[in-house]
Amino acid sequence: NKVVLAYSGGLDTSAIIPWLKENYNVEVIAFVANIGQSKKDLFGIEKKALKSGASSCYVSDVKEEFIKNYVYPILKTGALYEGSYLLGTALARPIIAQKQVELALKVGADALCHGATGKGNDQIRFEMSYAALAPNLHVIAPWREWKLHSRESLLKYLEERNISTTATLEKIYSKDENIWHISTEGGLLEDPWNRSNKDCWSWTVEPEDAPEEAEYISLRLKEGSVVAINNQELNPLKCVEKLNQIGSKHAIGRIDIIENRLIGIKSRGCYETPGGTIITAAIKAIEQLVLDRESFQWREKIGLEMSLVVYDGRWFSPIRESLQAAADSLSSSINGEVILKLYKGSVTSVQKYSPNTLYSPEYATFGKDEVYKQSDADGFIRLFSLSSRIRAKNKLK
Ligand code: ARG
Ligand code: SIN
Repeated sequence: NKVVLAYSGGLDTSAIIPWLKENYNVEVIAFVANIGQSKKDLFGIEKKALKSGASSCYVSDVKEEFIKNYVYPILKTGALYEGSYLLGTALARPIIAQKQVELALKVGADALCHGATGKGNDQIRFEMSYAALAPNLHVIAPWREWKLHSRESLLKYLEERNISTTATLEKIYSKDENIWHISTEGGLLEDPWNRSNKDCWSWTVEPEDAPEEAEYISLRLKEGSVVAINNQELNPLKCVEKLNQIGSKHAIGRIDIIENRLIGIKSRGCYETPGGTIITAAIKAIEQLVLDRESFQWREKIGLEMSLVVYDGRWFSPIRESLQAAADSLSSSINGEVILKLYKGSVTSVQKYSPNTLYSPEYATFGKDEVYKQSDADGFIRLFSLSSRIRAKNKLK
């Protein structure tokens, strides 16, 4: 019997390998998605997996596909979970699961395994994807079964089996990193009255330490996707990499929030999405030019709905596809050029242009115009306020 494990090289998944062999008597195949986590985490990871007892280890670079097929489409929908989270972890789970399932089917495995805890969202996202893509494979979630519920016990478990690890007792933060974002949870963040410290932020500088000079960059958008930075055309992955680098320098894209997990627990996290925050600002700027009022509202509804669909792990679902189709349709007019000012943690659109603009200086001017009859508003307001007037008159009676 074979199990394909979504392996990260961290403490938890390292312990899972021997645990699976001992408790399920299976051959363990490690699967690593290179999704842009730190080089340090990936370095020597195959060897590490084999040393921990895996029969083989496959590493697959999914960075480009992740940005192109998961992140960019979702940006077009305007999805922001609970108003601020750009879903960096939630978006990564379905692609990891998808690649893991492909491998499992290829090697003829019977089961899939992941290292998410039983208290979080990630277990749901993995298993929602597994269910949709490989309904016949078994799922093993060690965290919901084993007794190894602390770092101490995990370290001891590995030590007893002579499996070396670079993990230490004090590593208190749970970090999840990919090319799109890095999240930090746990440790001192567990008390909402504790301020985050510098260990809670990995990519971005403190706003105070950002350059004294503002930086202006231009982004070109085509159908809701960034296609060029400062007039240089770049593919989606390169755009994100470049904007992460510029944004981190200017302290952009930090949030420190308490969110509602799907299972009902509230959790605190510090998230950094510098490139994503810059792109979001650019898209918003063009939307302001091109979306009429109803389209704008529709887009907000799509974004809200999509944020829940993605957060809850319903990636491989008709609702996600349908919402995406609606967003794609709206995005056909999100074209143009935006100049953004980056300064000490803030990103502001300061100039915007779109060939699809609905903004009309002729109509908008506070000066004298030739196109609009102010008296037209008269009848409109009389009808718009009619029910208010009737209600008020009744009250007077
Ligand atoms: N709370 C965020 C989410 O649910 C981040 C989760 C981080 N995951 C992790 N394995 N460290 O999307
Ligand atoms: C975990 O529980 O494995 C991480 C946090 C989460 O999934 O929400």
